[in-house]
Amino acid sequence: MNAPDANTRFAPRHILGIEGLSPDQITSLLDAADGFVALNRRREKKGESLRGLTVINLFFETSTRTQTSFEMAAKRLGADVINMSVATSSIYKGESLIDTAMTLNAMRPDVLVVRHPHSGAVELLSQKVTCAVINCGDGSHEHPTQALLDALTIRRRKGTIAGLVVTICGDIAHSRVARSNIHLLTAMGARVRVVGPPTLIPAMIERMGVEVFHDMVAGLADADIVMMLRLQLERMHGTFVPSLRENFHFYGLDEDKLAAAKPDALIMHPGPINRGVEIDTSVADDIDRSVITEQVEMGVAVRMACLEAVTAHQEAASP
Ligand code: NCD
Repeated sequence: MNAPDANTRFAPRHILGIEGLSPDQITSLLDAADGFVALNRRREKKGESLRGLTVINLFFETSTRTQTSFEMAAKRLGADVINMSVATSSIYKGESLIDTAMTLNAMRPDVLVVRHPHSGAVELLSQKVTCAVINCGDGSHEHPTQALLDALTIRRRKGTIAGLVVTICGDIAHSRVARSNIHLLTAMGARVRVVGPPTLIPAMIERMGVEVFHDMVAGLADADIVMMLRLQLERMHGTFVPSLRENFHFYGLDEDKLAAAKPDALIMHPGPINRGVEIDTSVADDIDRSVITEQVEMGVAVRMACLEAVTAHQEAASP
């Protein structure tokens, strides 16, 4: 696959979601990220393209992978990185999200990397600031960089995304990872299935171009990719599953259920994984089929590509 040249490379002002991106725009980001995988495997990992720029990580929800991965990505491209700890910020003195964002914006950062518990909050924030904004998860709405890193993992392993059967299992209703992945995978021509109890599958999700299954083995039949999701208990108001044990019995991935998928099916999970709740240890740690840690590796490369894409636009615009 040819790398797009600098003139045709996708350079959006913000990255707020996958919805609305074209296959070419997605491919442009994946191609750029692919190049960074090789850089990240070298002993000397420093690039130059964000030298002199400032990236602020603003996380209103906890994160291990995403925040570390963005910090590493920005540093590998030569940027200065500030990690705002919301727990010790003025949010706790009553400052609103927008006032916090505008205060940070006044210090002239180049990129704000934001995670927030409310759907739509990151887009709202992006309308109030002059710097680029990357959405790292807004409520149960979108998590675009997760879908891109999942796509890069799949594309590198399977050579393509088009035509693959991808089964996404578990808490679809509360998952921004599911939503961003459905947008991306359907746009790229995959056949996407969702599996879970009726309480965890949003009504009319078929309109997003997916097939719905409530029986895990039926949903996994001949799947190329099995994507497991955590129960997003922090977003559940009420009882959605009878018990964690029963949930595992019907919807947890174990060797028996996995046998329905293709023998070379890849097992994916955005993390954090809850062993024995949505995935069995023997499956999560299966070195032949589980690509869970590879997803984490691809995350750094994808975030480098996203940071470069949103700052390339600034370069063209600045006097
Ligand atoms: C996901 C998230 O925060 O939405 N995690 C991640 O970014 N790797 C999924 C989750 O928390 O279950």
